[in-house]
Amino acid sequence: MRIMKPTRHLLLVLCPMLVLGFLYYSSGRLHLRGWGQKSLYDKQGFLLKLGGNLPLELMYKYGNLSEGVCKPGYAAAKMTTIYPMFAKPAPMFLDPNFRRFSKISNFFPPFGMKTQEKIIDNILTATKSYGLGDELDSQSCKKCIIMGNGGILANKSMGVKIDEYDVIARLNEAPVSGYEKDVGSKTTMRITYPEGAIQKTERYEQDSLFVLSAFKALDFKWLRSIIFKERLRSTEGFWKSVARHVPREPSEMRILNPYFIQEAAFRFIGLPHNNGQMGRGNIPTLGTVAITMALHNCDEVAVAGFGYDMSTPHAPLHYYEKIRMAAIKESWTHNISKEKEFLIKLVKAGVIQDLTNGICGSGC
Ligand SMILES: *[C@@H]1O[C@H](CO)[C@@H](O)[C@H](O)[C@H]1NC(C)=O
Ligand SMILES: *[C@@H]1O[C@H](CO)[C@@H](O)[C@H](O)[C@H]1NC(C)=O
Ligand SMILES: *[C@@H]1O[C@H](CO)[C@@H](O)[C@H](O)[C@H]1NC(C)=O
Repeated sequence: MRIMKPTRHLLLVLCPMLVLGFLYYSSGRLHLRGWGQKSLYDKQGFLLKLGGNLPLELMYKYGNLSEGVCKPGYAAAKMTTIYPMFAKPAPMFLDPNFRRFSKISNFFPPFGMKTQEKIIDNILTATKSYGLGDELDSQSCKKCIIMGNGGILANKSMGVKIDEYDVIARLNEAPVSGYEKDVGSKTTMRITYPEGAIQKTERYEQDSLFVLSAFKALDFKWLRSIIFKERLRSTEGFWKSVARHVPREPSEMRILNPYFIQEAAFRFIGLPHNNGQMGRGNIPTLGTVAITMALHNCDEVAVAGFGYDMSTPHAPLHYYEKIRMAAIKESWTHNISKEKEFLIKLVKAGVIQDLTNGICGSGC
């Protein structure tokens, strides 16, 4: 039906009025929030008062389960109580339907996959596998542990406890061989990027997934050259030497969903958005990216080997080498102190369990 002329006129006037009215209304609401009632939430959207106690409905759901039994949906449920905006569905790895995951399609690396779609297609055609493997994928409740590389792991004999987890994620070149007593012997996946990947092929453990967390467009190209065994034409653009061979079949390689970098940076930690581009101090560390992945894909989440205690500059930085804590400087890319605030929230609220107590130290 055609709109009559006077009606159209009226609409032309009404529309801007509605828009203005809405703007006025919403700005009023914002002001009310800012001035009147105190918000219960911080700037990132996390509850200000974090306690370890379970809300009643969770107590009812999980209170019965005996100690040590995997609690289905526990990490996400606790996360939602302190961060109501949490939306669980976000696949761990990219699969051929990755274009449909709209949260990543409008961001450039490292926060999304814009401009890299073709290369990702090439890679996924070769890997043909996009999950954790049949056994883990069919398991209805998974406990995951993200292994940080901190010196805090040394001489704590946590290996046996760590091996009890269903999914054990290790980062970059953190060795297992020779350190089993402290860090366990199982590795489900090793999450890394070209500069962080193990370079000596004999150091790779058997039976683990090789997972790329791409921090720049070049990292996808690197993975493609590794998979198709092509020579990298140039190493320009990498910030240190990179692995040239990875002794893994394509079916054992995965691409970590870049959404976890985006969500950790802009939502959870609150790093500068910088128009969605990489900039000063807005890249989360790999450890926090891995924890973010686990919040979406594991029923329970633990960490070990996280946390830098700057008050002990002579303590070892990593469990496997002699560099001291004092060697870590505020880097251009990361914002360690802001990131730590986020991790403290997770530990304080019991969303994640910190086996080595390095995140809070004596401070929570
Ligand atoms: C917990 O135990 C009570 C009483 O034994 C039972 O009624 C309830 O269904 C149990 N809850 C769950 C989630 O199993
Ligand atoms: C761990 O124990 C070994 C052997 O006793 C010792 O050499 C090393 O310094 C210890 N490391 C730390 C961080 O305490
Ligand atoms: C880290 O964040 C704090 C607080 O927002 C800011 O003052 C500081 O400059 C940031 N550091 C870096 C390296 O960006």
